[in-house]
Amino acid sequence: MTDPHRLAAESLTLAYGDRTIVDGMDLQIPPGRITAIVGANGCGKSTLLRALARLITPRAGQVVLDGKALHGRPSKEVARTLGLLPQSPVAPEGIAVADLVGRGRHPHQKLLARWSERDYQVVAQSLEATGITELADRSVDELSGGQRQRVWIAMALAQETDILLLDEPTTFLDVAHQVEVLDLLTDLNRDRGTTIVMVLHDMNLAARYADHIFALRAGRLVASGEPHEVMTADLIREVFDLDALVVSDPVSGAPIVLPRGRHHVTSPRATAQPLTTQAGSPDGPDR
Ligand SMILES: Nc1ncnc2c1ncn2[C@@H]1O[C@H](COP(=O)(O)OP(=O)(O)OP(=O)(O)O)[C@@H](O)[C@H]1O
Ligand SMILES: [Mg+2]
Repeated sequence: MTDPHRLAAESLTLAYGDRTIVDGMDLQIPPGRITAIVGANGCGKSTLLRALARLITPRAGQVVLDGKALHGRPSKEVARTLGLLPQSPVAPEGIAVADLVGRGRHPHQKLLARWSERDYQVVAQSLEATGITELADRSVDELSGGQRQRVWIAMALAQETDILLLDEPTTFLDVAHQVEVLDLLTDLNRDRGTTIVMVLHDMNLAARYADHIFALRAGRLVASGEPHEVMTADLIREVFDLDALVVSDPVSGAPIVLPRGRHHVTSPRATAQPLTTQAGSPDGPDR
């Protein structure tokens, strides 16, 4: 496997009009790993992801790919390296599932060239991997929200990029399909070394599936590290203004967040029984 591409933000400032959303952010995406970006609604996660995919021009600072500024790089070269699944993608009206997934092959195709054997193969594999082969001829417009989300994930897979940025890839998916998609992304990471960066709202899935977590608050990075280092009750309070208990997930050993709302809390100071982590060490609540 060749060295994975390196993506980083350097003093990155992003703004819409006169509203600064991200202010002087420095971060390095761990190459060849799975990273989750977490934070409250409106804190700038999608804006950051779009800038990392070169869809937004920085107001100041830069996004750097393998040591060179992303802006000014040839578009096709960037498209072959970096793929983005946006938060609310819009499909062309009436397009069929297989055709939309096939559009993921564009960065690999020459202008006016016919589809290669490889193109057909990758589209078929992407449909298969996301469990939508039987939907191939259906119109994307007629699918359920979860089926459509899997079509977009298939399209992202068909791009075969070394870095895959996904904005809330599990939206609309039932619990089984959420786990399936995250397992699929993990396979992609382990088998091909694809660097995965995803915005996730589910803290528990983020803690379980990510090697590294960036937590944002109001366009600033407030935590960066492995899930067990950063996923604490203090962080949940800082990022979401939410009181929570953080315990060890008995299935994966990762931290699991149990929010304390205003209702259905048997004891406001309840602490869970210490649980045993995968490694066998007792790991109780962090507060
Ligand atoms: N195209 C735009 N023009 C102007 N303001 C925008 C635009 N897109 C986003 N914003 C604003 O920028 C801020 C950050 O938005 P962003 O979409 O990055 O948040 P987010 O963290 O992804 O939120 P969510 O969890 O709701 O998806 C918000 O206040 C939003 O209103
Ligand atoms: Mg968003």
